[in-house]
Amino acid sequence: MKKIIVANWKMNPESLIKAKSLFNSVKKGLSNLNKAEVVICPPFVYLSELNKLRKKSKIFIGAQNCFWEEKGAYTGEISASMIKSFCKHVILGHSERRKYFNETNEQIREKLKKALDSGLIPILCIGETDKERKQGKTKQVLKKQIQESLKKISKKNISKIIIAYEPVWAIGTGNACSVKQSFKAREFISSLFSSKVKILYGGSANSNNSLDYLYEAEFDGLLVGGASLSSKEFLGIIKKL
Ligand code: PGA
Repeated sequence: MKKIIVANWKMNPESLIKAKSLFNSVKKGLSNLNKAEVVICPPFVYLSELNKLRKKSKIFIGAQNCFWEEKGAYTGEISASMIKSFCKHVILGHSERRKYFNETNEQIREKLKKALDSGLIPILCIGETDKERKQGKTKQVLKKQIQESLKKISKKNISKIIIAYEPVWAIGTGNACSVKQSFKAREFISSLFSSKVKILYGGSANSNNSLDYLYEAEFDGLLVGGASLSSKEFLGIIKKL
C-alpha cells in the first residue's frame, strides 16, 4: 500500500514565482513514487498554475479549504466545484481554521458533503489541544469531532475520506507527538469506524521522524506543514520510504 504524503503549504510561499519554483524542485527530485502518493496543497490562488505544472508528473494537487455552498452571495468564499478542476483533494477542518475562523464540526460536515458531491477526496483534520490532552480528554475530543462531522454521511462516502490526526499542540511547534501516543490515537480513531479508513499523522512531521509514524505507529501517510516548504526536507521524507 502506498503511503500518502501530503504537503500543507498553508499561506506560503509569498509569491507565485516562489510557489512554482518550490513545486518544480519537488517534481524534479521525486523518486520512490511506487511507495508514495504525493499531494501538494498550495493556497487557492496558485492552484491553477500548479495544476498546469503537475502535468506529466504523478503529483496530485489539493486545496486547503472549500465552502459548503455551490455558488451565490458569499463574498470571499470558494466552492468545492470551483476547485474540482484543479484538485483531487481538499483539506477540511484544519485546526487553524477551527481556531482562527471558529469553524465548527457542523460546518465542516457541510463542507465535507459538498466536497464529496463534487468528487473531491476530503482530508478531514482532527486533534486535541494541549489543554484537552492534559485533562485526559483526547479520546472524547476525537470521537466528538468524528461523530459530529461525519453524521449522516453514508458509509460509502465515509470510505472515501482520509482522516488526518493532528494533535494541535504538535503543529508547528517542533514538539512532535511521541510514537506511542500517536499509535494509541490512531488505534482509537480506527476503532470508531466499521471499515478500514486511511489515517495520516500531522504535527511537526519531518524526515527524521517520518518513518516512526509511518511504520511504527502504522499511519497510512503524513500531513506535512513546515517541512513541506523545503523541497529537500519534503523529498527527504519521500526518499526514506
Ligand atoms: P507542521 O504542520 O508540520 O508545521 O506541524 C502540520 C499541519 O498543520 O498540517
